Amino acid sequence: MIIESELKQDINFNTKVGKYNVSSELFVDFVFNERCNCNCKFCIANTKDMAIEDFNTWKINTKSMFEVFDIHDIIILGGESTIDPHFFEKVDYIGKVMDKKDRNIILTTNGIMLRNPEFLSKICESIITTVNISYMHYDKTKNDAIMRGHTLTIDEIENIKRVLNAHQMKLRLNVNVFKGNCDTAKEMIAYVDTLKDVTDAIKFSPMIKTESFGSQNDVTQFTNDVAFTQDEIDSLFDEFCTYGNLMSTNEQVFGYVKYKEVDVHGCTVILKYSQLSELFDKTKEIINLKMYPNGNLSNIWDSQDSSINALLSA
Ligand SMILES: C[S@@+](CC[C@H](N)C(=O)[O-])C[C@H]1O[C@@H](n2cnc3c(N)ncnc32)[C@H](O)[C@@H]1O
Ligand code: SF4
Repeated sequence: MIIESELKQDINFNTKVGKYNVSSELFVDFVFNERCNCNCKFCIANTKDMAIEDFNTWKINTKSMFEVFDIHDIIILGGESTIDPHFFEKVDYIGKVMDKKDRNIILTTNGIMLRNPEFLSKICESIITTVNISYMHYDKTKNDAIMRGHTLTIDEIENIKRVLNAHQMKLRLNVNVFKGNCDTAKEMIAYVDTLKDVTDAIKFSPMIKTESFGSQNDVTQFTNDVAFTQDEIDSLFDEFCTYGNLMSTNEQVFGYVKYKEVDVHGCTVILKYSQLSELFDKTKEIINLKMYPNGNLSNIWDSQDSSINALLSA
């Protein structure tokens, strides 16, 4: 099973840091940078002003973060972290200062840099344990149009999987579902059938309206136009489940169905029904931290927000 800590069932808030109750499954998103070599029409990262990067503050605050918080899993993302000139320096630094060495360290990427064999080989030698590649459509031409970039071919994905698996690392493909992309159970099955042999798992999750992150621009308009409602996602994903064997389900988080894991045509498929973070009060509870390239530590999607920094120097 390939399950992120955010999807686990046994979350509790027993630890208090400052005024916050902290999740027992705390994970940190390292937003390495905010630039990207794609320009997805729906991208959350395209909705805010970019942070002025400060590598030195980032290092100091990253080290303190591991001292103050008991972090479970680490997710590296961006923007596109792999185009950050400090990418491997940052990965190595995290490896140096993190307290426990048995963590799941997930790289979430559009995968474009991984077509370079030397880059991929350095990933395999690093502390990263799992790679998630965001790949929206099973037809590369359509995927290029949605992600507005020169994305991987299926052969390239297959090669990346082969190399990762040879290093006991897993590959998962992440798909955002919205009107016009994997919007019927039949289309989701077509995705699975096209890509199941070149990945260890596939995760479908709803594309979220970016206005929920407090921004107004053309991305906001696009996501308002094409986002499914929660009811639509529920019925689409439930219908998709009828084509496979249910392996596990989580209906325990405050009575809310969070995910299902289904075997479809021999492929492990994770259906993330909704964003768990929406269920928590961010002024009182921390389920997830975000470390931004300017050294800001926050529990919301905004690199200008430094609400948790005060806890680092306390
Ligand atoms: C912001 S990207 C950064 C990492 C990397 N560039 C990538 O695409 O994997 C991280 C993840 O957020 C997802 N994402 C971006 N915009 C989203 C939205 N509006 N709703 C839901 N997920 C979104 C992407 O599909 C990707 O899987
Ligand atoms: S590849 Fe990732 S960061 Fe880049 S635009 Fe797409 S979702 Fe956003």
